[in-house]
Amino acid sequence: MSEPGSAASRPAAGELLQLACSVAVAAGQVLLGRGGRPEVVATKSSPTDVVTEADRAAEALIRDMIGEKRPGDAILGEEGGQTGGGSAVRWIVDPLDGTVNYLYGLADWAVSVAAETDGTVVAGAVFVPRRDELYSAALGDGAWLSTGALDPGGEHGSPVRLACNTGVPLAQALVATGFGYESGRRLVQAEVLRAVLPRVRDIRRGGSAAVDLCSVASGAVDAYYERGVNLWDIAAGALIAAEAGASVTGLHGRPPGTSMTVAAAPGLLTDLRDLLAGADPERDA
Ligand code: IPD
Ligand code: CA
Repeated sequence: MSEPGSAASRPAAGELLQLACSVAVAAGQVLLGRGGRPEVVATKSSPTDVVTEADRAAEALIRDMIGEKRPGDAILGEEGGQTGGGSAVRWIVDPLDGTVNYLYGLADWAVSVAAETDGTVVAGAVFVPRRDELYSAALGDGAWLSTGALDPGGEHGSPVRLACNTGVPLAQALVATGFGYESGRRLVQAEVLRAVLPRVRDIRRGGSAAVDLCSVASGAVDAYYERGVNLWDIAAGALIAAEAGASVTGLHGRPPGTSMTVAAAPGLLTDLRDLLAGADPERDA
């Protein structure tokens, strides 16, 4: 028998992806099913950084489902922090990315579930329940969009392989971004936006980092950048964007992360990164 952390016990990325997809869809169903305006039960970094009962219920379901199938894996979730462990696998979960959209009845919110093996994200699923869109990727296997998860008996097309837009010059690029919850961070984000906006086609602020990265993957936007995201916001979406041909990085040779995350096809990424770096965006007021 193999030891829990040994190479022989590492599950295939496809196996982890299947579980990621099924828990993301199940959590999405729970979130959709909670009618009426969700109640804010707590706030986090600022009074506008809210937690609803729905965030907590969705994360609890995801933890139960993963724990039942893979009891030795660690789980890092936005609401419950990191728990468990022992195997080579860690799950990175945002049970509800785009909480403010959810609160206001807007459609762009998602469940984001990624699985990491030995510190590398190998599988990611982002489910957007209001559009019944499931974005997924396993490392080396491309990025895919399937619809109809909420209606398994219905007629749906086959999953579509995603490819990000290529050859778009910076001046023609539609660029998604997001803003943090703290005013000091937003002040700098507004300054950076002032440098970016006159140089690109336009800006989109969708309200979910996970959806933004999937939009880069599908070509619904050309690029995305944001300072202040957490690992659970981007873990699944970054793999999906990368498997669709985008580069996903930080600034100055660093990997994507809280300090800065930028995603776009390679040529555009270089120009956007240079523009951002000139605005000194990795600071807070
Ligand atoms: C937020 C969303 C938003 C981004 C923020 C995130 P939450 O996550 O992804 O688009 O701009 O940085 O914190 O709070 O809705 O889970
Ligand atoms: Ca989030």
